[in-house]
Amino acid sequence: MSRRFWSELTRQLEPYTPGEQPRVANLLKLNTNESPYPPAAGVLEAIKGIGEDDLRRYPDPTAMALREAIASHHGLKANQVFVGNGSDEVLAHIFAGLLKHPRELLFPDLTYSFYPVWCQLQGVRYRQIPLREDFRIEPTDYPADAAAVIIPNPNAPTGRLLSLEELRQFLDGAKDRLLVVDEAYIDFGGQSATAFLGTYDNLLIVQTLSKSRALAGLRVGLALGSVELIEALERVKDSFNSYPLDVVAQRAAQASYQDPAWFQSCCERVVESREWLADQLQALGFDVVPSAANFLFVRHGEMAGQVLFQALREEGIIVRRWDKPRIEDYLRISVGTPSGCERLVDTLGSILSTLGDHAHSRRGSMP
Ligand SMILES: Cc1ncc(COP(=O)(O)O)c(C=O)c1O
Repeated sequence: MSRRFWSELTRQLEPYTPGEQPRVANLLKLNTNESPYPPAAGVLEAIKGIGEDDLRRYPDPTAMALREAIASHHGLKANQVFVGNGSDEVLAHIFAGLLKHPRELLFPDLTYSFYPVWCQLQGVRYRQIPLREDFRIEPTDYPADAAAVIIPNPNAPTGRLLSLEELRQFLDGAKDRLLVVDEAYIDFGGQSATAFLGTYDNLLIVQTLSKSRALAGLRVGLALGSVELIEALERVKDSFNSYPLDVVAQRAAQASYQDPAWFQSCCERVVESREWLADQLQALGFDVVPSAANFLFVRHGEMAGQVLFQALREEGIIVRRWDKPRIEDYLRISVGTPSGCERLVDTLGSILSTLGDHAHSRRGSMP
């Protein structure tokens, strides 16, 4: 009944559906690209060190200590770093503050499905550019007279990576078109576009601590760019919520940057497991899209995506699938620990042989 109080905008929203987080024993959760490893040990220490006064007071609204830690990690100044409550919030501010123009925003047709949702929320004009047949992003497909382009690199959910040269094509081709590169998965083998920040002022980079830093539960994301682009985001933030990062998030995130060795070793282990998993899945008859992320986008030649998705679920393994043209037969599978990857491969092996036998026995019974 009280839906009558909904605004017209609220009525029209088609919200993003996040991957589910069921609390079930023995579940193998490979659906939201979380890290299979714990965060750096210093992160929990930092959280344990938080005292009553820290909680009693408001946190630093500028999150300066954290921004300085991030800036020094990337060889930038603190005023080139913006932080927010997960990169989702950072992106939401980017859509509001930098992507809403009379000219269009461009992004791939198959990409992070939150982008069109923010466009709707903020009234951003946009156009989706089809990925090439092999899911490649082709820079020359993006008209130079658009207001902006946003692309994840590597792309989600495909995992395909653009090289720095291809990114340079985007940047050189259109100096008045802002390029936002969402680097949620860049730490698993890609090269960050941060190298270009000194040269190009039409570049903004978004990163997250949710994946490679194993802190999805903490909700910290960031943007890196010119002082003026960061200032725009500060203006939006301070018109929305001055304290997006609580004291726990600020201290814990800072500690994560103080342990580069742990970060490096976790990323390397994920990459190793990804390569092993890709080989195993190929041996089981899957097409595997080349991935530079902590997930694989795969399709089985003979088994529908929905059937495999459901069969895995019945075995306590959840992966992600979209009911969208072109990708309905694909599964996006997060890379887990070596034992998680083995369980997945063993389970898929028995699913395929059981379902395959059924298909055979049906065929066999025909005259
Ligand atoms: C491409 C991409 N960007 C941004 C995010 C948001 O991450 P978070 O809000 O946890 O920082 C995700 C999460 O899945 C993602 O896949």
